Amino acid sequence: MVARILVFLVFAVAIASVDCNSEGEALHAWKTKLVDPNGVLQSWDPTLVNPCTWYHVTCNGDNSVTRVFMTCFTIEGTSALSGILVPQLGALSNLQYLEVYGNNISGVIPTGIGNLTRLISLDLYQNHLSGVIPSSLGNLVSLRFLRLNSNKLSGVIPAEVLQLVRWGNLMILNVSDNQLVGSAHRTNTRRFAVTKIIQDSRARK
Ligand SMILES: *[C@@H]1O[C@H](CO)[C@@H](O)[C@H](O)[C@H]1NC(C)=O
Ligand SMILES: *[C@@H]1O[C@H](CO)[C@@H](O)[C@H](O)[C@H]1NC(C)=O
Ligand SMILES: *[C@@H]1O[C@H](CO)[C@@H](O)[C@H](O)[C@H]1NC(C)=O
Repeated sequence: MVARILVFLVFAVAIASVDCNSEGEALHAWKTKLVDPNGVLQSWDPTLVNPCTWYHVTCNGDNSVTRVFMTCFTIEGTSALSGILVPQLGALSNLQYLEVYGNNISGVIPTGIGNLTRLISLDLYQNHLSGVIPSSLGNLVSLRFLRLNSNKLSGVIPAEVLQLVRWGNLMILNVSDNQLVGSAHRTNTRRFAVTKIIQDSRARK
């Protein structure tokens, strides 16, 4: 009987810790897609019970990730972190700040980022991101700072994202220094729009 209870407890703890560390697993999945020559992600150990002690990660009181910041890891002008963003980042359901600027991140912005509805800052500027701005970013109604400037993004700014300029809390939208077409400025003509838009004049046609 005691043995059975023990077995049960061991299982329960195992299941609970797997469950608890789903955010750690999502971040670790990202780490496996990053090239980190300077070892800034050394502390990202997926066997820990949660990612809250990892460098560049902040949690709330419930041990859920609220901030990930990997900014300007530059050594003598060269960006240190390369690699891509992964869709698993969309699992960080309490994330408020995703600050990954001044690196050498390439590939596309995953659609799953649009699941992060608590995001306040999405700062992906000064990387090598390409492809289109996903329309799912229009779900980010808490967003105040959307800085995608100085990447290689192309296409138009999706109508869903422009909707954030009209109705959202957005204070800054910087899409300057990309390969975008179309204008966000036109969207900002309504009186109640507060967003400061930074966009290349070439794109304003
Ligand atoms: C940036 O990433 C690309 C691959 O995406 C790589 O070829 C290049 O060497 C990287 N540059 C630096 C400065 O790390
Ligand atoms: C994002 O949300 C969609 C729809 O709710 C879901 O199907 C998808 O699995 C989620 N993606 C992530 C990475 O959590
Ligand atoms: C907007 O982006 C451009 C290009 O990266 C940059 O020079 C400028 O300082 C940014 N402005 C703001 C307010 O973020």
